[in-house]
Amino acid sequence: MKLRSLETLEVGGRRVLLRADLNVPLEGGAVADDFRIRSSLPTLRELLDRGASRVVVCSHLGRPKGEPNPKYSLAPVARRLAELLGEEVPLAPGSAGPVPEGARVALLENLRFDPGEEKNDLAFAKALAALADRYVNDAFGAAHRAHASVAAVAGLLPAAAGRLLEREVEVLSGLLEAPARPFVAVVGGAKVSDKLGVLENLLARVDRLLVGGGMCFTFFRARGHGVGRSLLEEGQVESVARLIEGAGDRLMLPSDVVVAAAPEAGANTRTVAASAIPDDLAGYDIGPETARAYAREIRAARTVFWNGPMGVFEVEEFAAGTRAVAEAVALGGAYSVVGGGDSASALERLGLAGKVGHLSTGGGASLEMLEGRELPGLAPLWIG
Ligand code: 3PG
Repeated sequence: MKLRSLETLEVGGRRVLLRADLNVPLEGGAVADDFRIRSSLPTLRELLDRGASRVVVCSHLGRPKGEPNPKYSLAPVARRLAELLGEEVPLAPGSAGPVPEGARVALLENLRFDPGEEKNDLAFAKALAALADRYVNDAFGAAHRAHASVAAVAGLLPAAAGRLLEREVEVLSGLLEAPARPFVAVVGGAKVSDKLGVLENLLARVDRLLVGGGMCFTFFRARGHGVGRSLLEEGQVESVARLIEGAGDRLMLPSDVVVAAAPEAGANTRTVAASAIPDDLAGYDIGPETARAYAREIRAARTVFWNGPMGVFEVEEFAAGTRAVAEAVALGGAYSVVGGGDSASALERLGLAGKVGHLSTGGGASLEMLEGRELPGLAPLWIG
């Protein structure tokens, strides 16, 4: 199966609606991290180079819950996009236009200011479709959302996948279909409930699955250990126990953890065995023995997938585990794929973002793909 590719879409002299994921962090009214905007440029430039008469870019930003809210305006994004593109990008006042005349590229205001977007409402999709003759979806980060600008609109105009979406899908499906072995996955983050599906699907495909982050305490409990005051999802213990049972030696859990009373700068920290977390303390990072073992596994791999930090990496006292994994992933010899979100910001902080094979722009979307789910944004674009 292939996505309908951009080169098969006739765009010369046509107006194109381009759905991008420009949901970026803002700080003090400016874009704090423009990775997603930069990643959207190749498709936008290609459309212009191929003579599109106008490109109407659209995106969501944050979760404004169906009503206009200046806090979530795309105005700072329009400014950054214009700087990067080197030409004017006026912002339309509304989520479905009217589109300002005179410029080759315009950005619609936040799609989620309209309640129709998240409801996948056909009337809202028709209003979007009326602004263009062609539709291109390049919003990989939003491909797991059945929203009007990703799902319903794709059936209303001749449609194709943008270059970013195409690449993301190629890389992530390649991991599931034919990874060079050994294939090692490293999964961290706070909640196991968000990642149980992806852990199950990966376990069937990887040679090793290394677990870290807040979620590992639910694994410790499933093995019968006390976890002190660490993050624990009691309701997931049974499912995790089943996962451990079926995983054999492919699953690796931390052997030691860094504990403290709170995840604060300057906290008094101790390293303890995973089976000996004191009742009055909580684990906030994998320990040094685990970090070395995980780095060894990662360095021995030919393919690595990493999603989710190993601890509270924003606080220096609990950053060592995530740093060790990030360095092994980025500087080892394996083809490395990193899911968006926190792992991407960890790489960015460490100056390693440019060193991985593929840094995905999608957090939730990349996990849902690796879970083997059909994404609503891709369904209308498959051919053959
Ligand atoms: C993301 O940041 O993962 C995407 O832009 C999707 O955003 P959402 O989780 O608010 O739908």
